[in-house]
Amino acid sequence: MSRGRRISRVKMVLPTKQVAEKYFREWESHTLHHTPGVFPKLTARNLFGRDELFSLEIGCGTGEYLNAQAAAHPERLFLGVEISRRAIYYAVNQAAARQLQNILYLKADFKLLYPLFAPDSLEDVYMIFPDPNYGGAKKLKNRIFKPDFLDLMAAVLSLQGAIEVVTDQELFLYDMLEIAEADRRFAKPHEERFLQGFSPPEKTRFQTAWEKFNRPVFRFLLNKVRQSPYIPE
Ligand SMILES: C[S@@+](CC[C@H](N)C(=O)[O-])C[C@H]1O[C@@H](n2cnc3c(N)ncnc32)[C@H](O)[C@@H]1O
Repeated sequence: MSRGRRISRVKMVLPTKQVAEKYFREWESHTLHHTPGVFPKLTARNLFGRDELFSLEIGCGTGEYLNAQAAAHPERLFLGVEISRRAIYYAVNQAAARQLQNILYLKADFKLLYPLFAPDSLEDVYMIFPDPNYGGAKKLKNRIFKPDFLDLMAAVLSLQGAIEVVTDQELFLYDMLEIAEADRRFAKPHEERFLQGFSPPEKTRFQTAWEKFNRPVFRFLLNKVRQSPYIPE
């Protein structure tokens, strides 16, 4: 089954009005592209009403990883960004069922959110099985982990804040490592070039699927070690 079809098999269950108000925001691509300034900046103050750092998952799918993080760390704040309505509704309904108080889900294209981030606002960032976007130059344009992504992270992560990347795609892993290793604003906290295996308290939908085929899982961490003032558009 393709990566996309795994999500299309998730039943679409609309969150109730009350649940949506508490856990869900939707920022539409056309407006984000043309007039991003109509949306609030992505700060913990604007999202959660608190002056703190928050943690971000990019492409959070059905939310298993982020909901588990939020449940395990009630003192911290979590934002999940996901473009699939079906997947994010599932994540939102699960957050409500668990009565989480420290999480919000944003339906948006992450690549259009760059101008809305604020310097030094993120504690850490998770990319759990990001799409490799294989299939030609047109698809590759949608890949998130590129040098401009690290430019963004160098500005918006707090110093020593971490990016965690997990993938089952070996060639994609090497592409990302090459970009990361060339960027002196980041350093890996592990001696190995990358780590093998990933054992979160709750596995994501994609991890459960890949493990049925005995596919290896690769992981690496990057800590921000130098500040950059520049937020790319
Ligand atoms: C392979 S899935 C992994 C989902 C989840 N992290 C998991 O492990 O089950 C990649 C996810 O990234 C989302 N995604 C891809 N590009 C995105 C973008 N530009 N903005 C937001 N989400 C995106 C997809 O919709 C998909 O749910």
